[in-house]
Amino acid sequence: MTTTNRWLTETGGTRGPEYAQRFAALAASGEDVHGEADFCDRLLAPASRVVDGGCGTGRVGTELARRGHHVVGADVDASMLAEARRAAPDLTWIEADLLDLGPDDVGAPVDLVVLAGNVVVYLTPGTEPALAPHLAGWLAPGGLLVAGFAADRHVSVADWDGWCAAAGLEHVASHSGWDGSPLADGVDPDYLVSVHRRNS
Ligand SMILES: C[S@@+](CC[C@H](N)C(=O)[O-])C[C@H]1O[C@@H](n2cnc3c(N)ncnc32)[C@H](O)[C@@H]1O
Repeated sequence: MTTTNRWLTETGGTRGPEYAQRFAALAASGEDVHGEADFCDRLLAPASRVVDGGCGTGRVGTELARRGHHVVGADVDASMLAEARRAAPDLTWIEADLLDLGPDDVGAPVDLVVLAGNVVVYLTPGTEPALAPHLAGWLAPGGLLVAGFAADRHVSVADWDGWCAAAGLEHVASHSGWDGSPLADGVDPDYLVSVHRRNS
């Protein structure tokens, strides 16, 4: 996979320290920075197997591991992963494009793959339709694919739901945020948090 990844192009692959500091400052100011982990945790049995796809600084995966889940994180940006490794050196953090990782690399089958913080928006242009089918192959029967992203940019709600359906994933729920708010009727949302399930 060549690195025309949108995130690396936009950030130059140097965003890690700033990203980590921004969330540390938010947490220090009393802001809840664990909405994504809360959302995923509610869907999981204790000690579930989770892949934090596009984990960045490990913000979500580290919190899920703290709550007792078995987490592997993968990201294409070394500067982000350096922060994850610093914060949680005992977890497995893999530097790779998600599309270049096979099931064995991430310890599949897993119970949940989470794509938090616009991972879907920052994929290498043209690879977007391939991601849901690829990640579906990592899920155990009953396993969940959870994605949250700005749906007014490169990938729409209909795109994502269509690619998940084509991958054999059943639609479970769509929300407008990690707090579980419903989508407004008849309005394309700016932000989508969706859950799809592999049934067999
Ligand atoms: C805005 S950050 C979100 C990081 C983290 N998930 C969070 O919520 O804090 C988006 C991340 O997606 C990663 N990313 C984008 N495309 C990727 C790909 N194809 N494979 C792995 N990581 C990817 C970027 O490197 C970046 O760290």
